[in-house]
Amino acid sequence: IDCGSSSLEPYTDERSIKWVGDDPYIRNGETHKVNIAPPNLNTWDSQVMSTLRAFPTRKRNCYSIDIEDTTTVERVLVRASFHYGNYDNKSSPPTFSLQFNGNNWTQIQTSISLIEGKNINVCLAQTQPDNIPFISALEVRSLDSEAYSYIGTDYPLLFILREAFTSTNIRFPEDSFDRIWRTAAPGPNNSNGLIAVTSDSPSIIVDFDEKPPEAVIRTALTFSNSSTTTPLSSTRFADPPYHPIQFIAYFSEVIKLSPPQKRSFNITVNNNELGTIILPKGSVIPPYGRVLQVHIANVTSSTVNASYSITSTRTDDSTLPPLINALEGFIIGDKLVQGTNSNDVRVCLFISESIGFIAKSFVQLQSWSGDPCLPSPYNWEWITCNDDTDSPRVTALYLNDLGLEGILPDFSAMDALVTIDLHNNSLMQEIPDFLGTFPKLETLNLADNKFSGTIPSSISNNINLKLNVSGNPLCTNKTICKTDSVSRSPPSPSKGTSSKTLAKPIIIILLSMFFGLLF
Ligand SMILES: *[C@@H]1O[C@H](CO)[C@@H](O)[C@H](O)[C@H]1NC(C)=O
Ligand SMILES: *[C@@H]1O[C@H](CO)[C@@H](O)[C@H](O)[C@H]1NC(C)=O
Ligand SMILES: *[C@@H]1O[C@H](CO)[C@@H](O)[C@H](O)[C@H]1NC(C)=O
Ligand SMILES: *[C@@H]1O[C@H](CO)[C@@H](O)[C@H](O)[C@H]1NC(C)=O
Ligand SMILES: *[C@@H]1O[C@H](CO)[C@@H](O)[C@H](O)[C@H]1NC(C)=O
Ligand SMILES: *[C@@H]1O[C@H](CO)[C@@H](O)[C@H](O)[C@H]1NC(C)=O
Ligand SMILES: *[C@@H]1O[C@H](CO)[C@@H](O)[C@H](O)[C@H]1NC(C)=O
Ligand SMILES: *[C@@H]1O[C@H](CO)[C@@H](O)[C@H](O)[C@H]1NC(C)=O
Ligand SMILES: *[C@@H]1O[C@H](CO)[C@@H](O)[C@H](O)[C@H]1NC(C)=O
Repeated sequence: IDCGSSSLEPYTDERSIKWVGDDPYIRNGETHKVNIAPPNLNTWDSQVMSTLRAFPTRKRNCYSIDIEDTTTVERVLVRASFHYGNYDNKSSPPTFSLQFNGNNWTQIQTSISLIEGKNINVCLAQTQPDNIPFISALEVRSLDSEAYSYIGTDYPLLFILREAFTSTNIRFPEDSFDRIWRTAAPGPNNSNGLIAVTSDSPSIIVDFDEKPPEAVIRTALTFSNSSTTTPLSSTRFADPPYHPIQFIAYFSEVIKLSPPQKRSFNITVNNNELGTIILPKGSVIPPYGRVLQVHIANVTSSTVNASYSITSTRTDDSTLPPLINALEGFIIGDKLVQGTNSNDVRVCLFISESIGFIAKSFVQLQSWSGDPCLPSPYNWEWITCNDDTDSPRVTALYLNDLGLEGILPDFSAMDALVTIDLHNNSLMQEIPDFLGTFPKLETLNLADNKFSGTIPSSISNNINLKLNVSGNPLCTNKTICKTDSVSRSPPSPSKGTSSKTLAKPIIIILLSMFFGLLF
C-alpha cells in the first residue's frame, strides 16, 4: 500500500512489486507529497516514499486490511515505512506510536513484524501534542504457515535485524517474501581479518519454512587466516528491555571438505551469562550444499539498549575457523490480546458505518476502524470500555450531539453497556423495546430527540434505571396517545412496525458481511 497515493492505477516498482493507493483502506487523514526526496537506499522505492498520509485528527487512526486466504494463513509479515521528507515544512519529524490489532507495536522506522490473524489493523496513535502521525508505506504479506512457528502464534515477533554477508542487500525476487537481508559484508582490509566467502556448491538445499534465499546462504563471513583461533564474534543491541529475544543463525559450508579438514565451533551468548538456549545442542558443523538453522533463544535483556555478543569459538578438533552465513533477530512481543469482545466489535463497526442512522454531522462517528477498545487508552472516542486488558467489553456509548436522524438500529448484542447517551439528536418513532434489555444498564439518556409514542414497559419497569426522556414528543397518558395516533395518522403503528421489520434484515445482511471481514 502506497500511503498518500490516491492513484487508482497500481504502480509497479523496479522489483515488479505492485503498489496500490491507500484510499480503499482508510478514510481519514490528509495526503501529502514530501519536499525532500527519500535517500537512495535500495530498501526504499523513491516513488512510494514520496507520498504519505498524515493524521492531524483523532488520537488514533487505523488501516484495516483483510487477508485473502483465510484458511491457511497463520502468520503474516507486516512492514511499515516512514519518510518524513519535511512534508509539513516544519522540519520537525514527529514521534508517535504504532499499534496492530489492539496491541502496542513499539518499533517505528522500517519495522517488520510477524502477526497472526485474518484481518490486520495497523494503527497510528498520537502520543505527544503537535506530533502528527504519518505513514509512507504499508506492506502485508502471507507467510507459509509453518514459517517462524517455533514461537507460538499468540506472540508477535518484532524485527531487530536480518543480515547477510553478500555485497548488496537481498530482497524480492530472490526472497519470495521480500524480506530485506541487509549486507553486513566486511570492508576490504578490515582489522579483524574478516572476509566474505562464497560457496562453491552447485546447489544449496533449504528444507525449512523460513526459506532464506539461496543468494543469502551462498556467502559467509569467516577469517581470511584459516589457522586463526580468534573467535568470531558479533555484538548487537536491542530494545525494549525485559522482552526475550530470539536469534536465528544460518550456516552452510562453503567448500567441500576432505578429511582431516573439519570446521566445527561452539556458540555462546554473552559468555553464557544469560540463560540462553541454543538448538540444536552441541557443536555446529556447517553442512555443505545444505543449511543448518540454529535457534538462539531465551536471550533476555534487563537493561535499556542491552548488548549481546554472539560468539563462535572453534573446537579443538577443528582445522578451520568459524563462519556464519546469515542472522535474523526478533524481539518476542507481549502476548497478543484477544481483542474487544466480538459482539461489541461487530456492533461498533455497524454503528460506525452509520447504518440505520442518517447522519448530518457524522465526522466523529464515521469510518472508525481498528480494535474499538485496545490498546488502552486509544479506544474509539465515542465509547468507553472496561479495564479487561485481553478481551474488554464496551460499557458506554456516547452518541449525543451528533445530529443523528432516523431509527435507532438494534445494538442489543452489546450487553455489557452501563451507559447509553443519545441525547440531542433527531432519532424518531417509538423508543425501541431492546433498550430495556441491557442487564447492566444504569443510565439511558434519550433527551432532546423526536421519539414518539410511549415508553416501553421493559424500560419503565426498571426502577434502578436513570432515564431521561425530556424534550421528546412522547405521550404520558396511554389513553390519549392511542386516540392521538389514530386520529393523526403518521407515524401510524403499522408504518412503524413495517419500517422496524425492514430495518432488521438490513442488520442481518451487514452483520454477516462483518463476519466475513473479521473471522
Ligand atoms: C511547503 O513548502 C513548499 C515550497 O516552499 C510548498 O510548495 C508547499 O505547499 C508547502 N507545504 C505545506 C504543507 O505548507
Ligand atoms: C500501550 O502504550 C501506551 C502508551 O503509548 C501505554 O499507556 C499502554 O499501557 C500500553 N499498553 C500495553 C498493553 O502495553
Ligand atoms: C587493502 O590492502 C591492499 C594491499 O595492502 C591495498 O592495495 C589496498 O589499496 C587496500 N584497500 C583499501 C580500501 O584500503
Ligand atoms: C594466522 O593465525 C595463526 C594462528 O593465530 C598465526 O600464527 C599466524 O601468524 C597468522 N597468519 C597471518 C598471516 O596473520
Ligand atoms: C531463560 O533464562 C532465564 C535467565 O535469564 C532462566 O531463569 C530461565 O530458566 C531460562 N528459561 C529456560 C526455559 O531455560
Ligand atoms: C564445545 O561444545 C561441546 C559440546 O557441547 C563440548 O563437548 C566442548 O567441550 C566444547 N568445546 C569448547 C572449546 O568449548
Ligand atoms: C446539539 O447537537 C448539535 C449538533 O448536531 C450541536 O450543534 C448543538 O450545539 C447541540 N446542542 C447542545 C445544547 O449541545
Ligand atoms: C434531562 O435532559 C435535559 C435536557 O438535556 C436536562 O435539561 C435535564 O437536566 C435532564 N434531567 C435529568 C434528571 O438529568
Ligand atoms: C388520561 O386521559 C384520559 C382522557 O383525557 C383521562 O380520563 C385520564 O384521567 C388521564 N389519565 C392520567 C393518568 O392522566
